[in-house]
Amino acid sequence: MKMDFSIEETVKTRSSVRSYLDRPLPVGEKEEIRNYIAGLSNPFSVEVSFHLLEKNASAENLGPYGVIKGASDFVGATVAPVELGLEALGYSFEQLILYLTSLGFGTCWLGGTFDRSGFAAAMNLREGDLFPAISPIGYSQEKRRVMDSMVRWAAKSNQRQPWDTLFFKDDFSHPLTQSEAGDYVVPLEMLRLAPSAGNKQPWRVVQDKDTYHFYEMRSIKDSKLGIDIQRTDVGIGACHFHLAALERDLPGRLVKLAKPEIHVPEKMRYLFSWTAT
Ligand SMILES: Cc1cc2nc3c(=O)[nH]c(=O)nc-3n(C[C@H](O)[C@H](O)[C@H](O)COP(=O)(O)O)c2cc1C
Repeated sequence: MKMDFSIEETVKTRSSVRSYLDRPLPVGEKEEIRNYIAGLSNPFSVEVSFHLLEKNASAENLGPYGVIKGASDFVGATVAPVELGLEALGYSFEQLILYLTSLGFGTCWLGGTFDRSGFAAAMNLREGDLFPAISPIGYSQEKRRVMDSMVRWAAKSNQRQPWDTLFFKDDFSHPLTQSEAGDYVVPLEMLRLAPSAGNKQPWRVVQDKDTYHFYEMRSIKDSKLGIDIQRTDVGIGACHFHLAALERDLPGRLVKLAKPEIHVPEKMRYLFSWTAT
């Protein structure tokens, strides 16, 4: 399904917003967001649940701690602990973030710096569900606060790794050139620009003829809750890749294959593949 907004433009416009105007979302806009969420699906066919929350008198202890200022609306996402669950959550949540960006709202993925127990209580989590992240939704302040700029500086948020460390041909010893990527230059570039926890960019892709294998290069350990946030990151990257491929009418599908026979460096894990059809 093609989006009603330009993926390339929206990916390039989005950046994490941590400073918000003290203004709640209007009821009409909230309804639109709710409808968009109701229509969300992902190519992994895993159900992802979204919870829209407002900081008000009945939820006064919802507060993301420190890094976020001014927001009063939030969305949290949960998924059952199933195969490709965290990747599916990353995909669907990022599609929502891009939609919100296209409407002009500020957002910021938060996997660590928020009051997890306050949000979990307000969301009525199902036993065993994984709850990796939330995002504020709101009106960005024009000027970033010092705290915001410090977080961006620490994570080098304005930078991304170059092509030759992320994308490969046949195996992990041959970087993929842009001319070898052909029609997939733009989907891969959109993937490269995706947000990730700590800006670690754990996605690696190996092109094997018409198939693109997606791997996770682990650099962050599982959280105490047993969540590998970097699988969510690769789902976010896959969302950018897939939506950009759809925008360019490149047919294909995301599937988990038997492990490709490619020698993998240490800490690298195969997740899923895009097969052009
Ligand atoms: C899954 C995930 C978790 C994140 N968790 C946090 C967080 O806890 N606190 C925070 O300030 N930023 C968090 N971020 C935002 C990243 O730091 C940010 O996306 C990255 O530095 C790139 O910057 P950009 O989003 O402005 O392009 C998270 C991002 C992702 C994708």
